[in-house]
Amino acid sequence: MAAFDFTPFLAPDLPPPAARFNGFPRYNFVGGHNDPAQIPVDALTAAANAVLRREGRTLATYGMESGPLGYRPLREFLAAKMKRHAGIACSPDDILVTNGSLQGLDLVNGILLAPGDTVLIERDTYGGALTRLSRLKVKTVGVPLDKEGLIPEALDKALVDLAAQGVKPKYIYTIPTVQNPTGAIMSEARRAAILKIAEAHGVPIFEDECYSDLVWAGARPPAFYAMTKTDNVIHIGSFSKSIAPAFRIGYIVARPDLLSRMQALKTDGGSGALDQMVLAEFCQGHFHDHVPKLSKALRAKLETLMESLSERFGTAAEFDDPPGGIFLWIKLPDVVDTVRLGQVALAEGVALNPGPEWSTDKARAKCRLRLCFANPDHDTIRAGVAKLAEICQREFGVPLRSANVEAARS
Ligand SMILES: Cc1ncc(COP(=O)(O)O)c(C=O)c1O
Repeated sequence: MAAFDFTPFLAPDLPPPAARFNGFPRYNFVGGHNDPAQIPVDALTAAANAVLRREGRTLATYGMESGPLGYRPLREFLAAKMKRHAGIACSPDDILVTNGSLQGLDLVNGILLAPGDTVLIERDTYGGALTRLSRLKVKTVGVPLDKEGLIPEALDKALVDLAAQGVKPKYIYTIPTVQNPTGAIMSEARRAAILKIAEAHGVPIFEDECYSDLVWAGARPPAFYAMTKTDNVIHIGSFSKSIAPAFRIGYIVARPDLLSRMQALKTDGGSGALDQMVLAEFCQGHFHDHVPKLSKALRAKLETLMESLSERFGTAAEFDDPPGGIFLWIKLPDVVDTVRLGQVALAEGVALNPGPEWSTDKARAKCRLRLCFANPDHDTIRAGVAKLAEICQREFGVPLRSANVEAARS
């Protein structure tokens, strides 16, 4: 019997179908995967045991007797942590636990955006934010970045230009503490300047702090959410990078009139109970020891990646040494098309994120790429970069076989 044809029944405007998962590539430099060696398996096991024995019977209710905002001990931990690290004074009732910060993005977009709206966004930014906005038919205006992130003068100009066209953007989306993909950390002074501009133009700031725990050295600057005097900031964060992405736990901090709107849109019956309970139990005893250990391991991997790139690509690969995170944003010579490089490399087991998928300026990003160094071990990083250099040389003549690479090796 012929299979039933669902094609005419599909809703209009669906995204293209997802590719079937065939396992990870050998040299996996894509996405936001974490370091398997740093997953605190023993402490997580102990946390799961302890919390289930103590509170397992609350699984009989939706929301574990904590209400729809999420498991209360987790929100209490978050409120204390954000106060200590980011200067945010909020109560557990100002926090909504989400299924990853991806759901945070969806909920913020859900209460603010309609087709035809405009948002301001860092020119190089998180690909997942860009695809969401394009699916929502929202226009994105990219604002240039430097080593400290979003440039205030460029932001002001973009706002003035939009105002001249009668357009008020719905928000300014920024990843201020360890930017994705550049890794930049915005200074406190820069944050103050940007807040002032946003407030002068009457535009909200949407702050995404996905990576803010992974800072190599020193204290991070206060969050926008902590600095605003007009309550024009929405803040999201995640445990994906500080502990593990498979937990799928993120959070939103927002004023009650907005949080209650997002809560009404979160129609999933609550985020996973076990994820929240285990995380809360683990975090209370171990978060503050775990994160510096993880950061140290990540920093060491970054050094291996930077050394390998210098050795294999010489001066052809340009990058800044990021102050935290799991990514390196790399510029290759203009002749390289990283979309094509990505396709050819993937067929040979090297996965990378081509720059155009991480930028509003596709032409400028054509020769740029993002490599995630968290997941592969040191030897795999070295071998993967060697393989990538070989492929890039074959396809684009970069790196040159002579001067720069040999000079870098000697
Ligand atoms: C800037 C940024 N925001 C949000 C996310 C979503 O992460 P998750 O849903 O795992 O918290 C990512 C993932 O890489 C990201 O880079």
